[in-house]
Amino acid sequence: MTTKPNRAFFLIYFLFLLLIIIKAQGSCVSGCNLALASYTIWQGANLTYISKLFGKEPSEIMKYNPNVKNPDVIQSETQINVPFSCECLDGIFQGHTFSYTMQAGNTYKSIAKVDFSNLTTEEWVTRVNRYKPNDIPIGVKINVTINCSCGDERVSKGYGLFLTYPLRPGDDLPRLAVESGVSAEVLQGYNAGADFSAGNGLVFLPAKDENGNFPPLQKLGRSGISPGAIAGIVVGGAVVILLLAFASYVGLNRRTKVDEVSLLPVPGSYEDHNSQQLHHGCGSSMYKASESSTVVSPRLTGITVDKSVEFPYEELAKATDSFSNANIIGRGGFGSVYYAELRNEKAAIKKMDMQASNEFLAELKVLTHVHHLNLVRLIGYCVEGSLFLVYEYIENGNLSEHLRGSGRDPLSWPARVQIALDSARGLEYIHEHTVPVYIHRDIKSANILIDKNFRGKVADFGLTKLTEYGSSSLQTRLVGTFGYMPPEYAQYGEISPKVDVYAFGVVLYELVSGKEAIVRTNGPENESKALIALFEEVLGQPDPKEYLGKLVDPRLGDSYPLDSVFKVSQLAKACTHENPQLRPSMRSIVVALMTLTCAAEDWDVGSFYENQALVHLMSGR
Ligand SMILES: Nc1ncnc2c1ncn2[C@@H]1O[C@H](COP(=O)(O)OP(=O)(O)O)[C@@H](O)[C@H]1O
Ligand SMILES: [Mg+2]
Repeated sequence: MTTKPNRAFFLIYFLFLLLIIIKAQGSCVSGCNLALASYTIWQGANLTYISKLFGKEPSEIMKYNPNVKNPDVIQSETQINVPFSCECLDGIFQGHTFSYTMQAGNTYKSIAKVDFSNLTTEEWVTRVNRYKPNDIPIGVKINVTINCSCGDERVSKGYGLFLTYPLRPGDDLPRLAVESGVSAEVLQGYNAGADFSAGNGLVFLPAKDENGNFPPLQKLGRSGISPGAIAGIVVGGAVVILLLAFASYVGLNRRTKVDEVSLLPVPGSYEDHNSQQLHHGCGSSMYKASESSTVVSPRLTGITVDKSVEFPYEELAKATDSFSNANIIGRGGFGSVYYAELRNEKAAIKKMDMQASNEFLAELKVLTHVHHLNLVRLIGYCVEGSLFLVYEYIENGNLSEHLRGSGRDPLSWPARVQIALDSARGLEYIHEHTVPVYIHRDIKSANILIDKNFRGKVADFGLTKLTEYGSSSLQTRLVGTFGYMPPEYAQYGEISPKVDVYAFGVVLYELVSGKEAIVRTNGPENESKALIALFEEVLGQPDPKEYLGKLVDPRLGDSYPLDSVFKVSQLAKACTHENPQLRPSMRSIVVALMTLTCAAEDWDVGSFYENQALVHLMSGR
């Protein structure tokens, strides 16, 4: 009997509180015609892409970027100022809502962090859309709200144009003061309470107009997102959440729990800023791996790398039901892989039938710090009799199973290209961005795992190092798989990143054909043939496209664009060139594959390639 009045009382009380907070922290009466957004270019993003994203002509954007000399070739990491209009939204805060078309592989997080270059956050995007985060139909329009500011007369009347600036690692107040040409005190005034050295979070910086002057505050452009705006949003948001929790008694709590236990890269890990720029793909399906967040505090992880590199055996035994057979999810050349539930997270534990040397253990510690979204993450290890490696658990098996296993739906052609691109990015990362750089040496479809979103992740990287420190008898088991080894490596043991490029080319042929790297022909001799030989026969024909259809995976039916299939086959051919020097780098491969996931007009092929042969290849010449 007493619950009803209580509920009503609390509801009114919370609404009242909400109004007070909104009023105090972030009300607005108007917006302004112009604000700027600071967009960090990731490798491959170009002006055309940004122009589409923000609905602004490239020439209009260039007006605010006098330092960019050649708009066709903008270096990654360059910060571009993008003009947009700043409205007073719902009378609460100043911002602008952009419309973004959901594409395969996108998540709220990837849209916030990559497509919109941290100008908003996953939480913010989630809040302004009605679709559940893991149930967003492809092709729908997603709201993306970016905060902005029109100024605040209480701080200064001298500034009326503001740059929405996501703080980056390495930023600090003195530096931003110098770069913006505004004193540190004024910057602090506009961003009360902000920690400019936090490496994440939004701040608003006075900016210059197209003539290079600071435009003064306009009369009506009263502070919308006033000092303490972000705090306001957080507090306002918290109240909304409280209300929702109050009204429904359930819901958000569960989600928070899931968030907490998710395996997140640990901030400050090896993953450099550069690497984060690798997760992109022409407006679709891109995301950075950094976990910095603008409006929420860093979340806890169940397994944190720094402290938990070495696991006690008992813990692993408990997590795998004493390494029971029922928990085995795969067997490889050097042991079994077990499903585990470890510290409330899913993990995969690889039990290796070998001893690890001290050198290798030191190497493992390094490996646990290499993080990339397209690499299966090594969480830790344990040495007790055998060597146990603890990996993040990847839900959806390996690529080989998807291509050939029974009981799996066939992968669509776009999904195949995406998986190729994902794996290429993982490989590019270890080839170019880790210290020291790595060569995988065992790229094959069984080492490309597929996550629940059908994105590819490269597994087992760094394991070949085991052989360098371990006994030589294991070498042949560990370093490569027949059908994937290039001639210079199989014959002379010559190792270079091009070993991986070759193997990757074979995987591309697998994606096209669904066949194994070594094909048993059905003829009377029952002989074996390398998959690359089958393709080379066809690609060597005067009109290869005509014959290519015969090699295309029958599980694709007619649902594939021949042109795209042909290009992937040509790329595979370039990757498996006999001469390693003539094979493209993983970096070029990433770019080439990106072109297949993008609309052709989105970019200028010539500006990307260091390899002229590839330019012709991918542009179909
Ligand atoms: N982190 C993981 N998450 C989920 N499944 C995995 C993971 N690592 C390995 N597996 C599964 O276990 C199988 C065996 O792995 P492995 O011992 O590396 O042998 P191989 O790579 O030769 O298949 C893989 O093919 C894969 O299906
Ligand atoms: Mg493997």
